[in-house]
Amino acid sequence: MERSPISRLVVISNRVAVPKARGAAGAQGGLAGALNAALKKHGGIWFGWSGQECDAFTGNINLQRHDGVTTATIDLGHQDIEEYYNGYANSTLWPLFHFRLDLTEYERETGKGYERVNERFADSVAPLVNGDDLVWVHDYHLLPLGSRLRERGLSNRMGFFLHTPWPPTRLFVSLPYHERLVRTMLEYDLIGFQTDEWLESFCHYCRKELGADIDEESGRIAYDGRVTYARAYPIGIDYEHLMDQAETGEARQAGQRLLSSTRRRKAMIGVDRLDYSKGLPERLDGIARYFDNHPERVRDVVFIQIAPPSREDVQSYQRIRATLEQKAGQINGARSEVDVVPIRYVNKGHSLAELCGFYRAAKIGLVTPLRDGMNLVAKEYVAAQDPEDPGVLILSRFAGAARQLTDAVLVNPHSPDDLAQAIDEALCMPLEERKRRWEAMIQTVRDDNVQRWTESFTSDLASVKQND
Ligand code: G6P
Repeated sequence: MERSPISRLVVISNRVAVPKARGAAGAQGGLAGALNAALKKHGGIWFGWSGQECDAFTGNINLQRHDGVTTATIDLGHQDIEEYYNGYANSTLWPLFHFRLDLTEYERETGKGYERVNERFADSVAPLVNGDDLVWVHDYHLLPLGSRLRERGLSNRMGFFLHTPWPPTRLFVSLPYHERLVRTMLEYDLIGFQTDEWLESFCHYCRKELGADIDEESGRIAYDGRVTYARAYPIGIDYEHLMDQAETGEARQAGQRLLSSTRRRKAMIGVDRLDYSKGLPERLDGIARYFDNHPERVRDVVFIQIAPPSREDVQSYQRIRATLEQKAGQINGARSEVDVVPIRYVNKGHSLAELCGFYRAAKIGLVTPLRDGMNLVAKEYVAAQDPEDPGVLILSRFAGAARQLTDAVLVNPHSPDDLAQAIDEALCMPLEERKRRWEAMIQTVRDDNVQRWTESFTSDLASVKQND
């Protein structure tokens, strides 16, 4: 593979996914496939939390090499995990960044834990960074990390990419110490967002609350004698890899399994981490409305929701799981016949190959988050379709992906009527229209792939003038 002129990469994220563990990039979060591809190309290391709990933090670093990628991980203690991961990252920042003030917890102790773990990350990774490495930090777990690395004397080019939305200023200011947090972010040289919308919200905050000087055209933000660039880089999927997976025997078998179990019923599919941002109860309400409007179609249509549990120690995730179980049970109880059940609700995770088989067998892909940075399941569903007989993507207007996949059937995920109507429209859509919409979408999915995403972020980072 041609080596790009950029230097080694040091990728830092909360979780580190080794190449072998890759699969279902969308369902597991967008980081895995994306970053392995970049690291293979440029060399370097991927640093993060091992996902393991230790008795007390030791600072020991576990270095491993898998399939051309070096990973370096640390274990965290119980209190660190509680306060940093379950607490501040997933009970404060995640709900706030998904516009859910009703679920956002503001606890001083978890804020301290978040700071402490960012310090631990900085202490552990700083000695692994060479002078001309590009440092690329990911996601809301590590907003202050760049600033912590600068305190340790690193003057490397440092970039940050936010995989989630950035909320409007009027919501973001509910966060205690919001100014301090954003000031630390301005120590990165380049900050990437998934869409223009999140980028504009961030710039609005910097201008209104910090009085930063912003050039919209170039994304240049001047503040306190430093310059940062902020731009939109919509993430894509690893298209080639997905196509390979879709051709495997595993994918074909999975598709066959689904088709033979549904017999002549048309399948609709949803694949999401079990997260309240994904709009799962709202989706079930839309499906219930569809069956209420067309009771006879219970025999013709089946909905399959794959929802692997996520962040199970966080209360709001325990609640959403209970809500979903109850709702799926109620809907099925009221609408099933002895030989047909309208909803299949599956908590198990699946390999990317199996998902490709399911996506292709399903006539409709339902991707209806209430808010989502991008959403890669939407792109995976499109990529896995049969070009001669493609299924229809029903996509929430509030997913970042809706900015690019404008030929999906776009819906308001909060409205059961809107969802029911979209399902009806999708099921009745003539082949010509399905093909026209799919051909428009597949171009974007193929061209704006993850290789292009990493290439454009890293080459911009390599070329930003530091402190110009
Ligand atoms: C989202 C986040 C990722 C995260 C993923 C899975 O996609 O943006 O940073 O890795 O969810 O969540 P988890 O908490 O299991 O890492």
